[in-house]
Amino acid sequence: MSTCSNYKHSILIVDDEESILNAFKRILADENYDVHVAGNGLEGLEKLRTATKPYSLIISDQRMPEMNGVQFFAEAKNIFPDAVRILLTGYADSDAIIEAINKGGVHLYFTKPWHEEEILLHIKQSLSKVEILAENKHLMELLNEKNKELTALNKELEKKARDKTADLLIQTEKLKESYKKSQVILDGIVKTLSKIIETRDPYTSGHEDQVAKIACRIAREMNLTEEQVSFINIAATLHDIGKISVPSEILTKPSVLSDLEREIIKTHCKVANDVLKNIDFPYPVAEIIYQHHERIDGSGYPRGLKGNQIALEARIIGVADVIDAMASYRPYRPALGVEAALNEIIKYKGITYDPAVVDACLRVYKKSAKDSTEDNQQSVH
Ligand SMILES: [Fe+2]
Repeated sequence: MSTCSNYKHSILIVDDEESILNAFKRILADENYDVHVAGNGLEGLEKLRTATKPYSLIISDQRMPEMNGVQFFAEAKNIFPDAVRILLTGYADSDAIIEAINKGGVHLYFTKPWHEEEILLHIKQSLSKVEILAENKHLMELLNEKNKELTALNKELEKKARDKTADLLIQTEKLKESYKKSQVILDGIVKTLSKIIETRDPYTSGHEDQVAKIACRIAREMNLTEEQVSFINIAATLHDIGKISVPSEILTKPSVLSDLEREIIKTHCKVANDVLKNIDFPYPVAEIIYQHHERIDGSGYPRGLKGNQIALEARIIGVADVIDAMASYRPYRPALGVEAALNEIIKYKGITYDPAVVDACLRVYKKSAKDSTEDNQQSVH
């Protein structure tokens, strides 16, 4: 039902008295309503059933032959449930009124005789109420419709989000897989390169791996991140790669080196940097290797860097390198042992070696000594 003010409401009046029907026609004549009349309940129901537009208001007399007002309304309310139903009674029959409200869904009743102004006012008020209810119903329908649209839209969005998330998870997995593969390839390259250095100098075989192990343990002891540790591992494994440019005779010479030979060996830091700087590591691996013989007092080589000019990673590898070199056999001297190596770094702690790195290194060796003692004790028991 349209609720605009120029809407023409349909009203049905059912009464067996012609004079009453005429009275209503007269009362409502000046109003903009479609007024229909019926002489009894059956006729009234027929009008309702064949109506071309809904009735807004139905008025019926209670006392009529064949079908009374309550019986009429009991059926009429099923045809137009939203219509306002008004009962006319000839006297104050409270039982009939109660039955009319319960069975016929009657909203209002008037006992004869009535005042015309009063009944017109009630009709107008009832129709306003019908309009408000219809407007409300219309708005509720619109709201429900919009809610359904929103729910459908929401479901569609949720599905899209789920699909997108699933897609992203697949992409992330692929990326992880690809990253893992590149890590494996990188490890392979690093190991192959370090093997090449070893073939040049069989006496230092295993030195790169050992330095890498010691450097990583010191780094973890100093609470460096796992990413830093993994690149320290790479840098330490490749730290002597520059020795590929040093003649084998010098590397394996069983006696003390001449000054010139020593200068040639010192070039391995720069050579390593030249070789590795073109590899796009996500970390300054080439620069760290370039610095692994630098010492904090500036006495190292090749650039004589001091203190914090030397990367922490290079200071760690420098200490690990000295420890393994001194502890191991060399063609020009026997193995000096770990003890001597540790004494060396203690002696030069804070002079050539970073004191924090030395302390971390000493803690690492203390822990391994303790661990091996416990292992031995366990095997005795
Ligand atoms: Fe070196």
